[in-house]
Amino acid sequence: MSETERASAAAPASSPAPGEVKIRPAREGESKAVRALIGLFPQKLVQSPLPKLKYFMVAEVDGRLVGCCALDIFSRRMAEIRSLSVHPDFQGRGIATQLIEACVRYAKRRRIRELMTITSSLSLFEKCGFSPFKSERLALIRQLEAPPPDPLQPPPVRPATEDDGPGAESA
Ligand SMILES: CC(C)(COP(=O)(O)OP(=O)(O)OC[C@H]1O[C@@H](n2cnc3c(N)ncnc32)[C@H](O)[C@@H]1OP(=O)(O)O)[C@@H](O)C(=O)NCCC(=O)NCCS
Repeated sequence: MSETERASAAAPASSPAPGEVKIRPAREGESKAVRALIGLFPQKLVQSPLPKLKYFMVAEVDGRLVGCCALDIFSRRMAEIRSLSVHPDFQGRGIATQLIEACVRYAKRRRIRELMTITSSLSLFEKCGFSPFKSERLALIRQLEAPPPDPLQPPPVRPATEDDGPGAESA
């Protein structure tokens, strides 16, 4: 995501009042805070690998990061909303909804056609317009065990993103 595009998808620019929630793209240097938010829910959220920081929207209240959510873009066709976390002290105030909506706005701007998520918070995502695939079919997943790392091989390549240029456009 370019910083400007993500910022404009996040929220209208204005300085927040005390206690007000500000949704904005994550900034350099915020990896630790984002990781800490995700680390609050080890049973619910995948802890590793995480999307790169530039894929995250965050929620800030009085200078403190209280929520985060990533839009992981696989291709022009498909992106995943993941790593959604809101600190327990700030839940129930619509922060997750705002984070999801900011990711959806950004995905629309990028003309991505489908958004997916894997979640136990069904009602939350239904309120944001998500529904079972094609209303009647199931999205199936097969988890593959990672092979042990081969010291002679380079590290695995991450799936294509918008940063990979025009070659990554078809899905
Ligand atoms: C799920 C979570 C992100 C919700 O954050 P939040 O800021 O409290 O959510 P919102 O205030 O925007 O809630 C909006 C709606 O989502 C639903 N919702 C909220 N928390 C939920 C939960 N834990 N499970 C299921 N639905 C939930 C509610 O229906 C709520 O509607 P309401 O306002 O009519 O009650 C937060 O509880 C959290 O971080 N949980 C642990 C991590 C997790 O489960 N992440 C989601 C996996 S992708």
